[in-house]
Amino acid sequence: MENNRAQWGSKIGFILAAAGSAVGLGNIWKFPGKAFEGGGGAYILIYLAIVVLIGFPVMLSELSVGRAAQANAIDSFHKLGYRGFRWVGVTGVAVAFIVTSYYCHVGGWVLRYVVSYITEAQTVYADPLGYFYGLLGYNAATGETWFPLTAILFAAVFMAVNAFIIIKGVEGGIEKFNKVGMPALFVILVVLLVRTVTLDGAQAGFAYMLTCDWSKVGFSTFLSALGQAFFSLSLGMAIMITYGSYLPKHENLGKNTALICTMDTLVALIAGFIIVPAVFATLGSENVGKGGGFAFASLAGVFQNMPGGVFFGVLFYLLLLFAALTSSISLIEGVVAFLTERFGWKRKPTAIIVCTLMFLIGCLYTMSQAAFSIKGIWFDFANGVSFPIFGDFMEFLTDRLLIPVCALGVCIFVGWIWKPENAVREIELDGKPFKLAKVYSVLVKYVAPISILLIIVASFVTGTTLS
Ligand code: PHE
Repeated sequence: MENNRAQWGSKIGFILAAAGSAVGLGNIWKFPGKAFEGGGGAYILIYLAIVVLIGFPVMLSELSVGRAAQANAIDSFHKLGYRGFRWVGVTGVAVAFIVTSYYCHVGGWVLRYVVSYITEAQTVYADPLGYFYGLLGYNAATGETWFPLTAILFAAVFMAVNAFIIIKGVEGGIEKFNKVGMPALFVILVVLLVRTVTLDGAQAGFAYMLTCDWSKVGFSTFLSALGQAFFSLSLGMAIMITYGSYLPKHENLGKNTALICTMDTLVALIAGFIIVPAVFATLGSENVGKGGGFAFASLAGVFQNMPGGVFFGVLFYLLLLFAALTSSISLIEGVVAFLTERFGWKRKPTAIIVCTLMFLIGCLYTMSQAAFSIKGIWFDFANGVSFPIFGDFMEFLTDRLLIPVCALGVCIFVGWIWKPENAVREIELDGKPFKLAKVYSVLVKYVAPISILLIIVASFVTGTTLS
């Protein structure tokens, strides 16, 4: 094991890196569509409650476990004296592995779109959905399919950039990149928000996002919001434990956690208030979609119909690209940190091997988009044969099952085994009393684990998990 653990070079470096991990495709790509589907204001309220009551205590717990143990996510549990809980770290690292493999491919598609808007925006505009399908290897008009070479090449470039930054290390690579990437992201976000606010007809979209339509809310909304909050805050995936372990003892954990949660949630809300009203204004409310096709295909209509659209299109995909990069770096770091510490492997070859493996597994994801989501390359979808493992199933497995289970494990560990008093002691190492100690103990012992459990069980019992 390495004795000289890496540390963040500065406080702001850590905050930006942690916020960079949290702010990602989840906030900009997933949140707006989910908020629209879940009834606008109603979904937002549920989401905020979940962030405060569950997200905050879980993140604080992960950061304090990591900093107390000074180890990667798996060994942290062991080091604090409870081997039995290593499964939480193992699940987290495994989830990080699965998520990164598809996340980096979506990152590759985003990179492709940055280039597309610069070089051939008119082609994208001419047939947005056709362009998106084409990238994934499918021609809707002829039914023809092919190997999605362009998408895979761009994913390879995206992954290579990640590997490069990871190899540079915690302070020299991750921290440095985030110090540039995160401020850039905020600037772009503000520019895009101003653009939306000044669009004719955006008011209806704002009104929708501010009105609570409870008729659209069901158990599945809670589960979806819970999965979304965990995913967005980078919880239940070994990341915050790892990042916490690089944090010096004199840093104030409570404040940092609150700051990261706030930044992440703000970005999600702003993204929602950019995208939903922009679609209302340019395409009409019936066209607010969700998921991948939404960010890639529907938004083309938005940019096409707005003055200066190509410029804002490039800006938007650059925003997505920065957000995706700062997050994928953290995902890979969680896995690399474990392997280098545990087996004493060198950072560089480990990073290369991990990135290559993740990239290859992700290729199945990109390749099965046309097969599963659209039409078969390998599988004959028309005849009812499909193999959804690499389609939406991956997201279901991680967001809605493994991540909540892993977060539940963290709550049980900190709440009942390691005990909140120890977490509070770790939190107070900066010399200041933690004012929310009592509230935190109650949240981590009862409120968070019980709600997580209830939501998982309820959604399975009512069979609404896959909606
Ligand atoms: N939080 C990131 C997002 O919203 C994704 C992520 C999850 C990154 C877990 C790291 C760990 O896109």
